[in-house]
Amino acid sequence: MTRVLAKDLLSHVNQTILLRGWIHSFRLLGKLGFLIIRDRSGLSQVVIQEKEQIKNLSELQPGSILRLVGKAVASKEAAFGVEVIEPKITIEVPIREAPLVEYTKPEIPSDLEFILDHRSIALRNRKIQAVFKIQAEMVHAFRLYMHDVVGAVEYFSPNITGASSEGGAEFFNVDYFGYTANLAQSSQLYKQIMVGVYERVFAVSPFFRAEPSHTPRHLAEGKQFEFEMGFFENWHEVLDVQEGTVKAILDHLRKNCTQELEILDTKLILCPQEVAIPRVPFQEALEIVYKRTGTDERKEFDLSPAAEKELCKYAREEHGIDLIFITDWKLEKRPFYSYPKEKNSNLSNTFDLLCAGTEITSGGQRRHIYSSMVEGIRSKGMDPENFEDFLSIFKYGMPPHGGFGMGLERLTMTLLGLKNIREASLFPSDPKRIASQRIKAKIVFGKENIRNEIIRLLHQQKVEFEHLKHEETPVSSEETAKIRGIALEEGVKALILKGKHTKKNYQVNIPGHLKVDMKQVAQMVGEKCEFEDPAVIEERFGLQIGGVPPFGPLLNLETFFDERILEREKAAFNCGLHTESILMNSEDLLKVVEGKIGNFSKE
Ligand code: 4AD
Ligand code: MG
Repeated sequence: MTRVLAKDLLSHVNQTILLRGWIHSFRLLGKLGFLIIRDRSGLSQVVIQEKEQIKNLSELQPGSILRLVGKAVASKEAAFGVEVIEPKITIEVPIREAPLVEYTKPEIPSDLEFILDHRSIALRNRKIQAVFKIQAEMVHAFRLYMHDVVGAVEYFSPNITGASSEGGAEFFNVDYFGYTANLAQSSQLYKQIMVGVYERVFAVSPFFRAEPSHTPRHLAEGKQFEFEMGFFENWHEVLDVQEGTVKAILDHLRKNCTQELEILDTKLILCPQEVAIPRVPFQEALEIVYKRTGTDERKEFDLSPAAEKELCKYAREEHGIDLIFITDWKLEKRPFYSYPKEKNSNLSNTFDLLCAGTEITSGGQRRHIYSSMVEGIRSKGMDPENFEDFLSIFKYGMPPHGGFGMGLERLTMTLLGLKNIREASLFPSDPKRIASQRIKAKIVFGKENIRNEIIRLLHQQKVEFEHLKHEETPVSSEETAKIRGIALEEGVKALILKGKHTKKNYQVNIPGHLKVDMKQVAQMVGEKCEFEDPAVIEERFGLQIGGVPPFGPLLNLETFFDERILEREKAAFNCGLHTESILMNSEDLLKVVEGKIGNFSKE
């Protein structure tokens, strides 16, 4: 018997069919059980009458995999117009543990952070599924348009590269057999090289940006729709292709993603085929913002996020479209390869495309004469020698050319009206996550390193502190207090313990004049503990007893503070070395370190 998918069930009414899929939900209504099965095409409903089956299904959790033979019947009540009755069920993979993420609800009742922590399961949610189905269709539409309409050739560029393509500091270094390589910020240089081969080229390329800021529109890894063309009469032909691309993608989604758009309950952006996307020079754009809001950014070199929003509002109100091109940017603000305007070399033949409040594309005409490209590289303080291979194409003939790079995640976010770009990336990376998983606390190894890291943290969090340098402190707290010249009670003793059962290390911090109460500690951490061997501490953390600072998270330790530390306003501790201490507010210390607070000290 061949498998029937949920979407085809209606055409099998009154037939015996085979369904296979995941349990999406199971609920009882009176004596009847309603089983919803999910397969790759959607959901189907199965009605269960047999007591034994109801009992068996009640013990299963969503995600269980079933194989089920039953009869498809038309049903007005069923949401899908058809349901399956009298099933024979085989449980292929029983799941008994409830999933942490309630992904079977239409909207997962958790915040984005939690959803990203459990990304692999959360992706099964129907709304989230719909986002990435649409994203896949965007890429498909792009390829169709580029191949069939523009006549461009797809290229595949390297992602481990020798030189930064966009300049700036936003690139990742990787250790490459002992040499330092970069992860590609874009395939910019390669697409230009490929113009020398095929004239018109495109790609869907990964990009990597070491973007330290945590914003709703920046990722550390993403994809770009890349396009580049040679031999235009006017560089605005690049904008024509960009405009055609966005419109073709929207048209494709409207035709092919009706179900997904319905699930998301989103209308796509306003973009009528017949309305031309307005093209406004940068300086004029700032005038528009000034006129509309009174905010004067006319001397700026870049658009603020607020200005981007305002310009999109302008486009919608004055032109009836959610997109706007901003052209002719100041050359200084654009990458080295940008083409200076012939009439005004302070400006450039470059553009950004803004969509529903956010930049989705940058592009423009490129320098195509060898000497000009060398000048561009030098103007950004870079060394032409690092671009030798790239530069060779200009020695051997490049036509006037230009193109664009459009962010896949930015486009997904803006077209679907998502609030955060992480919702538009399957496994987002940002300063706090790698491929959606939280970055685990790093272990800072060694005395000076941990001191530097503590000082960096305190500066970063704008916390006041004193950095004391003194004679070597002995192990005794009393002697240490004398050397530092502060009260014994203000000293913080940082102790590293070992769980007798798990062998895991913990850090407990107590005031200098008290002792640790091991019974209380055992209750707090859930196992009996002993002091860790000093030799192990030295080997594992590069620290000596007496020099360990109360910054356990930097050592990847679960960390606890005795609440009596807060009895004194100040707290002092060795910061990795016996000859250096930090004196700071005790409340600040507990805030910065983010340990757990308990009661585990005794006289
Ligand atoms: O504006 P960008 O940096 O331009 C380039 O990479 C050029 N090579 C493009 C060209 O052909 N001249 O990046 C292009 C687009 C941005 O508009 C944005 O949509 C996306 O790529 N992008 C990012 N998206 C999310 N997070 C980031 N950190 C991004 N950096 C770029
Ligand atoms: Mg840009």
